[in-house]
Amino acid sequence: MPEEQVKKNIKAIILMGGPDKGTRFRPLSLDVPKPLFPIAGLPMVQHQIEAASKLENLREILLIGFYQPTEQLTRFVHEMRETYKIHIRYLQEYTMLGTAGSLFHFRDIILNGKPEAFFVFFGDVFCDYPLKQMLEYRQKWMRYLLMSVEVSQEQTKNYGVMGINPQSSEVMHYIEKPGSFVSQHINAGVYLLGSECFDDIAKVFNEQDHHGAMDDKLGYISLENDIFTKIAGQGKMFAYVAEQFWMAIKSAGSALYANRVQLELYKKNSPERLNPDYDTVYIHPSAKVDPTAKLGPYVSIGANARIGPGVRVKNSIILDNAMLKDHACVLNAIIGWHSVVGEWSRIEGTATKLDPDAPHATTDNFYLFDDKGKLRPSVTILGKDVVVPNEVIILNSIVLPSKDMGWGLKNQILL
Ligand code: GDD
Repeated sequence: MPEEQVKKNIKAIILMGGPDKGTRFRPLSLDVPKPLFPIAGLPMVQHQIEAASKLENLREILLIGFYQPTEQLTRFVHEMRETYKIHIRYLQEYTMLGTAGSLFHFRDIILNGKPEAFFVFFGDVFCDYPLKQMLEYRQKWMRYLLMSVEVSQEQTKNYGVMGINPQSSEVMHYIEKPGSFVSQHINAGVYLLGSECFDDIAKVFNEQDHHGAMDDKLGYISLENDIFTKIAGQGKMFAYVAEQFWMAIKSAGSALYANRVQLELYKKNSPERLNPDYDTVYIHPSAKVDPTAKLGPYVSIGANARIGPGVRVKNSIILDNAMLKDHACVLNAIIGWHSVVGEWSRIEGTATKLDPDAPHATTDNFYLFDDKGKLRPSVTILGKDVVVPNEVIILNSIVLPSKDMGWGLKNQILL
């Protein structure tokens, strides 16, 4: 292979956000930074790291976020280095600088080694990442190549949308979260950028400085609002329209759907990760599952979890150290770390469904309540350390951490 082709000249940057983000992911984000929440047994961002690590010309991965470098985060980064044998670092922002501001702040590190281009991932988007395809598609003049997917007209208002020239695939218009319908092509939160994008970001930064932006706003720059909207139609920004399934993990319900899709992907691409005794079930090696339990499809069981005799689990995530006692039934639910479900109890939610108008993307309910203030039927979530006694039913409800429940619940949030 010619030397040029294996030159390590691509970087990947994952924008992890910070503790202020991920509010729709509560109560689960109260106990773990959202990007580390497990989907099919692996932290959300590990799926992106794994995808990037498969690129033969990958030089390094940079995780950028506003999370404190806790022991959990530091251990994760170390494990990623060991697992994938790649150079990977966590860079902490001093405040949330926005999607462009955070890149600009760390531009020297990003540009170190003169990468030809770098991927930017939003830490909460989920798909079978078409990275190789985007690299092959990119031409030198494409400063910005944005992955795009088509969603239903109704869903577009929650995203950035773009008008794409069908001949050249240039992004002619870009509008962030439009009030009315513009286009079904949305920004999927995976970009392939050339180093020249820093010229555009620097311009916005200098204008802010020049116009005396308030101290707390100085340096905050959004790629979507401050750059894409301005440069659309100038011959710099292009779209790679992907056909595969895509979603953003905003709520716990969407995490459960991502879990399902990822388990299907394991079945296709890495069946050794699944437990051979069940259909699409991941079980951490340290978990103990009674042989009479019936699991699947679409179940992930975390480290040291215990699943008792006669238990039934379907389309659910059981987090580390949780315990399901004899004959408990868990359907369409997430059971928090160290939580206990009593004998013969039933924890049940409503599964997220695909939008028939946009089968390649699902977004789940963006908001917990409908227009009349009623809780929408959704997956049931037990936060960390919740104890459910024997013979209790919990339906379509969200239970915050550390609750000792003495009764059943239906369509409620237990604070
Ligand atoms: N490090 C860092 N710093 N990360 C950030 C920052 C920041 O200041 N701001 C946002 N992010 C990360 C978040 O953690 C998240 O993973 C991602 O960037 C998207 O940020 P959101 O603020 O949650 O954006 P959104 O979901 O409302 O919309 C964005 O994503 C959509 C795709 O899911 C927009 O870019 C839309 O255009 C896009 O369609």
